[in-house]
Amino acid sequence: MQTIPRARFPKILQIFRWAIDPVGYMQKNFSRCGDVFQSPVSWNSPEQYHLLSRPEDIQYMLTHDTGRELSAPGELNNIFESLIGRQNVILLSGKQHKKRRQLIMPPFHREHLEKYNQAIQEITYRDIAGWWVGDSLDVRTAMQRITLQVILKVVFGFHQGKRYQKLKQLLSLRLNMSSTPLTSLIIFFPWLQKDIGDWSIGGRIRQLAEETDELLFAEIEERRASAHAGRMDILSLLIAAKDEEGNHLSNQDLRDELLTLIVAGHETTATALTWAMYWIHALPEVKQKLLSELEAFSESVDAGKLLKLPYLTAVCNETLRIHPVAMLTFPRRVEVPLELSGYQFSPGDLLVGCIYLLHQREDLYAQPQQFRPERFLERQFSPYEFMPFGGGVRRCIGTALAQCEMKIVLGTILSNMQLSLTSACPVEPARRGVTLGQNAPVRVKTIEKYIPAHR
Ligand code: HEM
Repeated sequence: MQTIPRARFPKILQIFRWAIDPVGYMQKNFSRCGDVFQSPVSWNSPEQYHLLSRPEDIQYMLTHDTGRELSAPGELNNIFESLIGRQNVILLSGKQHKKRRQLIMPPFHREHLEKYNQAIQEITYRDIAGWWVGDSLDVRTAMQRITLQVILKVVFGFHQGKRYQKLKQLLSLRLNMSSTPLTSLIIFFPWLQKDIGDWSIGGRIRQLAEETDELLFAEIEERRASAHAGRMDILSLLIAAKDEEGNHLSNQDLRDELLTLIVAGHETTATALTWAMYWIHALPEVKQKLLSELEAFSESVDAGKLLKLPYLTAVCNETLRIHPVAMLTFPRRVEVPLELSGYQFSPGDLLVGCIYLLHQREDLYAQPQQFRPERFLERQFSPYEFMPFGGGVRRCIGTALAQCEMKIVLGTILSNMQLSLTSACPVEPARRGVTLGQNAPVRVKTIEKYIPAHR
């Protein structure tokens, strides 16, 4: 049996490269080691992770991760703890994890989300109403405004008011603390987050967490006091939920879960939308094809119909293929001896699906560095060949929401605004926290807008 190749260089240098230049790190190791290689992922974790990028291996991992052969322990995701706490779906394991997913999944089902289509479009209209002709704007900032309002609507049932404004400000400050490759080092070397006074990074994280908690706990208390049946927002469902012994979730549990959904639910989609806006405006032929598809609409663009447009869907898929916002799945732990790609794995070994390398495979995607939405119209990819939302027991809860949101936001903007890219091309992928963001701001200038007068 062969030895599993491992990345060269001492652990500290590898984590540093993975934090600062994740794409270079993955590509280098793939060309040196092939489909499977060992790598450290965080300074705090003593174990090596095994990164998989062959669809067959990933399929095996994600179809056997319910506990007997492989498990998906939440404690392995503890690099997120300082941001979202411990009592949430990402950090829970086993039965508790399964129960929490069952509780929060219903509002994220595609049929249920239909009632948000209109709200997503209204939020987009309201935002672009403030983009003036001649103005140049930062696309990420605009996309973050939109996606935050959408997730607050789904989670709380509201997206306006003083509390929302304050929450928005605090979350942006917190997420921006690890928005560049260099500042992302605080995630991978957690001792950099040690609280040694108000002036330290740890101190700032604590202050922001305290202020955010105050807002979230106030909202939770008010909702408990005024709970009424029939509300389908997530906070109402979580407040009403009881376990087998009849216990309700504590305020701390609720706070951790709300924060998880808000953070996971807006930062990722904002990054994906920023990439989509970049590619559409960097490639005139892609923009032209999209506009031709959208022109089929007359005066008003119906949000529901946008979801069915084939080219728009292909553009969103190609965006998530070429720059998967999440480069890796969460780790899975081997529970019984097994063999993948000719390598032997033992109980305790940790496996991770490398979504980035999977999406860059030349045997699946010809000229993978090229943005070509047509590839999604020419053939169907299996869930283990195209996998931006992971799979198995931890498959992304927000898959349907992110997919609908991307199409409605892009379709509404393109049908109502003529924009041109003003950033220097090309914009390259770069780390933003745990996600794959942009190495430079994506900026567009408003050339013309045709928003119907009644809006
Ligand atoms: C383009 C946008 C998004 C991308 C690319 C994305 C990607 C992912 C990926 C790759 C995973 C890990 C799956 C695995 O390990 O197999 C995940 C998990 C998760 N995502 Fe997303 N996501 C997106 C949007 C959202 C949204 C809108 C929400 C809203 C609530 C969300 C909530 C979550 C949660 C809660 C988990 C953890 C699930 C669990 O541990 O059981 N995500 N996401």
